[in-house]
Amino acid sequence: MRNDSNKSLSAIMVIFGGTGDLTHRKLMPALYNLVYDKLLPENFAVVSIGRKAKTSEQYRDEVFGSLNKYSRNKIDLEYWERLRDLLYYVQFDFTDQEGYVKLKDYLKKLDEKYDTGGNRVFYLAVAPEYFELVVQGISDHGLAHQEGSWTRLVIEKPFGKDLITAKKLNDKLIEVFDESSIYRIDHYLGKEMIQNIMVLRFCNTVFESLWSNKYIDNVQISLNEKHGVGTRGGYYENSGAMRDMVQNHIVQILSLVAMEPPINLKTESIRTEKLKVIQAIEGFTGDRLRKNVIFGQYGKGVIDGQHVVSYREEENIPVNSTTETFVAIKLQINNFRWAGTPFYIRTGKRMGKTSSEIVIQFKELPEVLYFKEGHVQIPNLLVIRIQPNVGVFFQFNTKDFSTHNDIVSTKMDTSYYNPTVGNTPEAYERLLYDILRGDATLFSRWDEVEASWIFADRIIEYRGQKKFDFPNYDAGTMGPVKAFELLAMDGRKWWDV
Ligand code: BG6
Repeated sequence: MRNDSNKSLSAIMVIFGGTGDLTHRKLMPALYNLVYDKLLPENFAVVSIGRKAKTSEQYRDEVFGSLNKYSRNKIDLEYWERLRDLLYYVQFDFTDQEGYVKLKDYLKKLDEKYDTGGNRVFYLAVAPEYFELVVQGISDHGLAHQEGSWTRLVIEKPFGKDLITAKKLNDKLIEVFDESSIYRIDHYLGKEMIQNIMVLRFCNTVFESLWSNKYIDNVQISLNEKHGVGTRGGYYENSGAMRDMVQNHIVQILSLVAMEPPINLKTESIRTEKLKVIQAIEGFTGDRLRKNVIFGQYGKGVIDGQHVVSYREEENIPVNSTTETFVAIKLQINNFRWAGTPFYIRTGKRMGKTSSEIVIQFKELPEVLYFKEGHVQIPNLLVIRIQPNVGVFFQFNTKDFSTHNDIVSTKMDTSYYNPTVGNTPEAYERLLYDILRGDATLFSRWDEVEASWIFADRIIEYRGQKKFDFPNYDAGTMGPVKAFELLAMDGRKWWDV
């Protein structure tokens, strides 16, 4: 990341949900690492808001504990002291109007102390049912706008639970903030390899000139996790894989893989091209849903030698739950570039391995020359590895040196194992830095969110109407048999390279 440290980045960041999991696991380690990398503005402070009574001193000690657990860099006391001096805690309940009055005064004092020029980032790291309430509080108490300074609103997922609720939430937000001041987080967009998709495509003649239905047989996007739902059962039960991973992360990745080259690298140009892809996803009719959408829910199984319980036995999950923990979809993007090339997407919890990858399978060559007489062709594959391996893998054919005419596939792999996020900046570091710089490229615009709900709603509705025989895959496997059949029917397979 470039160091853009200048006055216009000065701000106070107010975190609603300052004692929550997200703040401790992601936001504070990200802030620490930004201090470490000298990327935070000189004039900066953080105010965390929570319901529990505690002093700023106590809060700082808690943050120190979390940093030691979750930061990618070991904690160096010199940098920690710097962050510590910027952290404050304010206690109030979001429903308490007095709290906003208190907050306003508090921020004013910190503005003077840190010379932050009245700029604000309001970060909503709270449960979604509080989003509208907090925004109303911010608005009612004159915190949303200040003459001569900027205010930005950062909102975590889930952005609604369907198109109707997302629209209602958005209407509330735009009553108070301009679209350009709203930063809808999709933390996948902060990941290095996701940002790398555009670079790989638009900086390499060998890829971009082949990037279409003419040369690409199919595209596979897989976000697989070994984790189960853990302590998040209450949330997950009402979400499922479609809302949790597909409507946001997978659709965003898909749009970057399939978009047309934007006219420049400005935020709106990129978002406009991404939007067109989401809008071009072919609608799902009843027949297409039956054939092309596979849902799954994990049963018990073994992961890394440990017995794990089924989804229905997890904390806060009803014993007869019909929520999907896995989904695989075959979809078509109906435009000139992609018509006829299927995109297969899949995501699941309690899978046999944790890996997020995009596989581009190129078309086969004609069965002449080296490939006649029943020779099996191993296709060219380009794999963009997002995590835990990070990098690019490319598979191509060469002559086997030890024989006369055998063709073997050679694997070129630039990726390296990255158990957490290793040395690449954690997604949240990049995102927080961009929020301060006012760069919204890695955040979703409302019309992208709207279009992805239109796509997801139809599939979620179908799940609600049908009875599925859950659980239908064992924990520790790669999902239900039907997900393999989905590709086998087309003469294809999921690549786990
Ligand atoms: C979150 C989902 O958005 O992404 C989680 O709510 C999921 O269920 C997580 O585990 C995956 O993110 P990452 O960065 O760990 O791949």
